[in-house]
Amino acid sequence: MALDQAAAPPRALADASRYDRLTISLHWLTALLVVALFAAAYVWNALPHGTPMRKSLQAIHISLGLLFTVAFIVRLVWRSSGGRRLAPAEAGITSVLSKGMHWLLYGLLIAQMVLGFLLRWAQGEPFSFFGLFSVPSLLAPDKPLSKTYEWLHNDAAWIIIVLAAGHALAALAHHYFLRDSVLKRMLPHG
Ligand code: HEM
Ligand code: HEM
Repeated sequence: MALDQAAAPPRALADASRYDRLTISLHWLTALLVVALFAAAYVWNALPHGTPMRKSLQAIHISLGLLFTVAFIVRLVWRSSGGRRLAPAEAGITSVLSKGMHWLLYGLLIAQMVLGFLLRWAQGEPFSFFGLFSVPSLLAPDKPLSKTYEWLHNDAAWIIIVLAAGHALAALAHHYFLRDSVLKRMLPHG
């Protein structure tokens, strides 16, 4: 038993061909939520103002936004606590580009969450998680300011979607053209 433990490689090196299960789950959960948040907003934007469907989609967006915030914080804590198993580093310019893209996405997603909260508080409208609990308001309602936050939140959403699409295409290009393991290490199997 003691011998087995002594011979076991450190966890970070145990299977460097793939990210750990929590990192993979959180990556795909956050990716799915970003697309759902964006899609919900553009469906309600096509509906007339004041319709129940529009209000429901906005409430769902805010609830999923809260879920996204929790998943994102867990992801950052897991990453910075050393829990994340490191995949083998790429070399050269592609490594710099991919790291730059990841940090840009992290930064924009953090800005987007902060703007989402500021926007809801400035609107002064209900801020609840699927009706289970309400988020306390930390700011006084301010309609003109809410318009500015809405504008910034919408622009940031478009930048995130365009960059995430570029990031996804790069991962697919690695898989189908460069035929390396970059995509596979973020997949649960294969
Ligand atoms: C990556 C994550 C997110 C994306 C892509 C996203 C995207 C969007 C988009 C495109 C809109 C429509 C803006 C417009 O019509 O001008 C919107 C509205 C909104 N978002 Fe987000 N959002 C995200 C996260 C969040 C979060 C975390 C919250 C807060 C918990 C939030 C709260 C809101 C609110 C309050 C509105 C306005 C709803 C209304 O008009 O009543 N969003 N979002
Ligand atoms: C809204 C969608 C997405 C967002 C916000 C996003 C964000 C990120 C971030 C921040 C990382 C860095 C992870 C870390 O170092 O902790 C990452 C890694 C990765 N993502 Fe995404 N992602 C999205 C969608 C996708 C899609 C659709 C694919 C595949 C088609 C994909 C494939 C990958 C791969 C393969 C890695 C690992 C890259 C490497 O090890 O160098 N992502 N993603």
